[in-house]
Amino acid sequence: MAARGEFSSQTAFILAASGSAVGLGNIWGFPIQVASNGGGAFVFTYIVLTFLLAYPILMAELVLGRHSKADTVRSVVNISSPKVKPFAYVTGYWGIITASLILSFYAIVAGWMIGFGAGSVAELAGLTELKAWLTAFSLERNLLLCLVFYVLTMSIVANGVTAGIEKWSTRLMPILLLLIVSLIAFIATQPGAMEGWKVYLQPDFSRILDPDLVISALGQAFFSLSLGVGTMMVYGSYISKADNLPRLGATVAVVDIGIAVLAGLLVIPAMYVALHNGVTIFDDAGALIDSDRLIFTVLPALFETMGFAGIVISVLFFILMTIAAITSSISMLEVPVAYVSESWSFDRRRASMMVGAGIMMISFIIIFNFEALFGFVINLTTRYSEPLIGLLFCLFVGWVMHRNHLLEELKQGSPDLENGLFWKIWPSYVRFVCPLVMLGVFMHSFGLLSF
Ligand code: PHE
Repeated sequence: MAARGEFSSQTAFILAASGSAVGLGNIWGFPIQVASNGGGAFVFTYIVLTFLLAYPILMAELVLGRHSKADTVRSVVNISSPKVKPFAYVTGYWGIITASLILSFYAIVAGWMIGFGAGSVAELAGLTELKAWLTAFSLERNLLLCLVFYVLTMSIVANGVTAGIEKWSTRLMPILLLLIVSLIAFIATQPGAMEGWKVYLQPDFSRILDPDLVISALGQAFFSLSLGVGTMMVYGSYISKADNLPRLGATVAVVDIGIAVLAGLLVIPAMYVALHNGVTIFDDAGALIDSDRLIFTVLPALFETMGFAGIVISVLFFILMTIAAITSSISMLEVPVAYVSESWSFDRRRASMMVGAGIMMISFIIIFNFEALFGFVINLTTRYSEPLIGLLFCLFVGWVMHRNHLLEELKQGSPDLENGLFWKIWPSYVRFVCPLVMLGVFMHSFGLLSF
């Protein structure tokens, strides 16, 4: 078997893991959730929950990964006693299946992003029919653009950890940041933007403890940090033993929150500029129209009201979305690819192509049965599977992994860990608090618990 890859520096890991974390969830999901859940109140709850719950689970995944330096199945199996091993296998495989299913719907949405970006380029070139085809919902368009997105994702993953994932994350993440900041600056100059800033930054504190808001914020924090499928575990397995894990994890969480907040500063004011320009964004009852498709209805309608500048902005915005999607999709594909290439000793290139093609078939099945399957797969993976697997990861770190091994692992790269706050709080936190909260959330999702 070929030697395992390793990120070549801490910065490389931070960019790759932030690339995984920052995705459609931040730039598409987060602003919509903010707009439909009490503006700043949601932002506040989301930030608190990211630190209280998502960060500890992120650390659990990073520790498991770096400890074993193996694919996700072996990372949980290696620490398990013979009695626990069957559960470890189930957890590992379940994570792989969930990562693959998330990729299968994510790639469809990413394909639309490519379509809208390419559509605006076509418009610049005067190809209005092509633009209409690229931006209208059709079987052929969905299949073709999804395929394009898979080809991009597979060719990056095929090149391995350093020459593929690291190289592209370090190139694309700075561009993403630059694009987002430039777009915020442009939108801020437009009439109506101030109204959006106000809604976004003035929290309606009465809603902060609303259970639905808390559950949505937790789900968002989870999805956004790419937890509960093994992505962070597999990226963690490529971190050098010399690096400080708690610090790396915290940096990724901060970057993820930061970009989500920035995305809000872009999308929410943009919605109000759209409103100002005559685009309908709220229904008679004051609820956001079409919230799930906001990006594909309200924003293109807004860009259209801006003439030539609008077309350029549209190209940039959808490039931003595509970059965000691709640095996340490579991390999803990496989970099954690492498993197939390490546990089954497949050549990485072949593994990437085969696994990628297999998951693409799932996407195609979803596209052919869109109404029945699209929402179903999203719900199944993000509402049920991710929190449950996250809970299991915590149980493995909290109850199965030897405390001494945990300490030894964490001390590599942070020798005085024992004296710090992290070691005082985190171990019992992942042992008791996180599993209990996750269990509560999970039961709530199944309607077994109401609060
Ligand atoms: N974090 C990504 C986003 O916000 C989604 C993701 C989920 C990536 C799970 C990897 C694994 O869009």
